[in-house]
Amino acid sequence: MSDKFAEIVNHLINSGFVFPSSQIYGGLANVWDYGPLGSELKKNIRNFWHREFIQKSSYNVLIDTAIFMNKKVWEATGHTNAFNDPMIECKNCKSRFRVDHLLEKKFNIKCNMSFEEIDNFIKNNNIKCENCLKENCFTNVKKFNMMFKVDFGTTSETKTDIFLRPETAQGVFINFKNIQRSTRKKLPFGICNYGKSFRNEITLGNFIFRTKEFEQLEMEFFCKPGTDEDWFEYWKKKCFEFVINLGIKKNNIHYREHDKNELSFYSKRTVDIEYNFPIIGWGEILGIANRTDYDLKRHMEYSKESLEYIDDDRKKYVPYCIEPSIGLDRIILMVLMDSFEEEEISEDNKRIVMKINPILSPYKVAILPLDKKLSEISKNIFNNLSKKIMCVYDETGSIGKRYRREDAIGTPFAVTIDYETLKNGTVTIRDRDTMKQIRINQNEIFDYIKNILDKC
Ligand code: GAP
Repeated sequence: MSDKFAEIVNHLINSGFVFPSSQIYGGLANVWDYGPLGSELKKNIRNFWHREFIQKSSYNVLIDTAIFMNKKVWEATGHTNAFNDPMIECKNCKSRFRVDHLLEKKFNIKCNMSFEEIDNFIKNNNIKCENCLKENCFTNVKKFNMMFKVDFGTTSETKTDIFLRPETAQGVFINFKNIQRSTRKKLPFGICNYGKSFRNEITLGNFIFRTKEFEQLEMEFFCKPGTDEDWFEYWKKKCFEFVINLGIKKNNIHYREHDKNELSFYSKRTVDIEYNFPIIGWGEILGIANRTDYDLKRHMEYSKESLEYIDDDRKKYVPYCIEPSIGLDRIILMVLMDSFEEEEISEDNKRIVMKINPILSPYKVAILPLDKKLSEISKNIFNNLSKKIMCVYDETGSIGKRYRREDAIGTPFAVTIDYETLKNGTVTIRDRDTMKQIRINQNEIFDYIKNILDKC
């Protein structure tokens, strides 16, 4: 890991954003748990997505569908046959590698070759196994299906294999009719779905960037065929604005258009938004795909149910679909990497500060009594404020150390209660980024913070 990436990861683990999963049993490779701060951040990003894509849009609605689905869903979509990664295996140590990742890492090329061309490329370039360092040891390229099979039945008669969903999108397509009927939505309209997805990834690593279990925030936006290209541009722009509004520095993101032979089996056009991560380089955080009428048509064929739309002119057709698909864990990693700063305040005085957009910060304000004798009034302030916003209460250590602790976890405001508070009801409120403090009345704290959060 690069120094910067490793330093940030250590900080995130030590401060309680993310923990290695099952740690007391030696862990489970590439599986992570979100700690108290990470869970708050995750919830806040999900809420921000909800605000931007659902609450503020008259087009869109939200659903929350089951992870388990009828096996036929994945036969219909083609995932059972086509949701594959190209894989090679070392004949010596049995390690498996995803070929496109291997070629990108070693030769900095996007892999758009046929399997035969890849086999020749690997042989001609004498690529060594990264694990056992043996040369000329690879099998030919094989397809590796990434869906996880689970035992669903409880008795031998009902026993059946089903798959954990590899994307939340299909929960939308199979409910298209229910949603259209119950909401009476007319085209164009979008259906958002979110939650855990699972993929048996061959190449993992880079902390929470690529894992087998991850959360997606997806939208399937249905429109009249022929208007799809305009809507694609619309959502492409909206997604970029979404990332900027999360507080991400513009220079650190860009669009990447997929080559024709890189497109997923369901997509006519895909553009990713990538973030420039330390060590990883440019990595996809979300993608916008034109899924055409592919999914609805396939479900019509396999379920024998009509999923056609009848418009105001009584014309019947299968809508096209534009899909902005966001990986929540990658957004979290991006927000944390982008906001981490080490600042030199003066000689010998440094601080770590996470300049997270206040709307996303785990805690909005820290309540810090200058002295333990001020606990009672401070706890009253905490009790009043915490009815409305996430607050943290801390009375241990010097005030300077407590400010540093809050800076390091991204708390945008710190309220200090001192002896003047007892006399006239005023407190100081400190800004995380400027470190400037002003004195306000304790009754004004909420409005002061809300005023700033409303602009985020
Ligand atoms: N429904 C379309 C779809 O799932 P995708 O590009 O395969 O498209 C969408 O995934 C997003 O999900 C990606 O942009 C990425 O942020 C996230 N994602 C995909 N695989 C992931 C993994 N193994 N670990 C973490 N996030 C992942």
